[in-house]
Amino acid sequence: MDIIDRLPKCELHLHIEGTLEPELKFALAERNKIDLPFGTVEEMRAAYNFNDLTSFLVGYYEGMRVLRTSPDFYDLAWAYFEKAAAQGVRYAEIFFDPQAHTGRGVPFDVVIRGLRHAQLDAEARLGLRTGLIMCFLRDYQAEYAMATLLESLPYREWIIGIGLDSDERGNPPNKFAEVYARARDEGYLLTAHCDVDQENSVEHIRQCLRDIGVARIDHGTNVLESPELVAELTDRNIGLTCCPISNRWVSDGTKAAQIKELLDRGVKVTINSDDPAYFGGYVAENLAVMRDAGLTAQELITLQRNAIDISWAPPAVKSDFLARLDALGGSHNAS
Ligand code: ADE
Ligand code: ZN
Repeated sequence: MDIIDRLPKCELHLHIEGTLEPELKFALAERNKIDLPFGTVEEMRAAYNFNDLTSFLVGYYEGMRVLRTSPDFYDLAWAYFEKAAAQGVRYAEIFFDPQAHTGRGVPFDVVIRGLRHAQLDAEARLGLRTGLIMCFLRDYQAEYAMATLLESLPYREWIIGIGLDSDERGNPPNKFAEVYARARDEGYLLTAHCDVDQENSVEHIRQCLRDIGVARIDHGTNVLESPELVAELTDRNIGLTCCPISNRWVSDGTKAAQIKELLDRGVKVTINSDDPAYFGGYVAENLAVMRDAGLTAQELITLQRNAIDISWAPPAVKSDFLARLDALGGSHNAS
């Protein structure tokens, strides 16, 4: 069996709204009596022709209109969990974008109850453990992020950490310094997107590390432009959640060579899927990109070891995952 099929997998960069496949979008549109601007699944897929982050985000937010009730969010998450489990994912931390829903009149409670219900079923029925990370939309005001943070507090035990996503241009991490400080006080763990090849990518990475104090960075491969910041990542054991197939859509390639270089330099890089329904690849397909770029089986194992290491999984989940990886390493001819 192929090494990728046999690997236990840990997913750390997955926007649950980015797993909304066209088939489910049509089903939810019908359930909620919402008109879609496409007649067929094929037409919808053909319209996914983004060439940068901004153009992707337009379709991504537009697609979410079909999500209205807790059962809709349940169905969205459950569909992803079934796919993930089938690919050997044992632990997943999933992002959700509450403001993309509350901003169009869907209450926070409706969103999180649907997701939570699916998480509990995934654990019971699929043996898949998951965590929720609440992302703030960085192209909205910091005050709105703060209000959302306060709105999340009754559900504090259901959310492990916070993130920052959406359009990065002109929206540096420091815009949200106060929100991050408050989130830290509330016990949330911290991550943030520094998307590939953005304006001021390196400065944004610097702010995340030095000003905000994140525990990891989503994407972040532009750190290679600053040897000093690369050293800081390794010294502080701060990992990057990279997404090769997504990179191909929002920049000029998968960045597999850069990810490999970071791995060689001892940075805790990990491989993830980002928005698989839009970019066309779940975690196994993203790992296949790395294998096709020349990574050995042993390096693919290291990527999973990195992922569980920098994850926010409970200790028992980490040790179970590591035991599975060790068993694989022992039975496997490293090449
Ligand atoms: N929201 C969903 N996917 C995203 C990405 N790759 N970058 C920024 N925001 C996002
Ligand atoms: Zn992302």
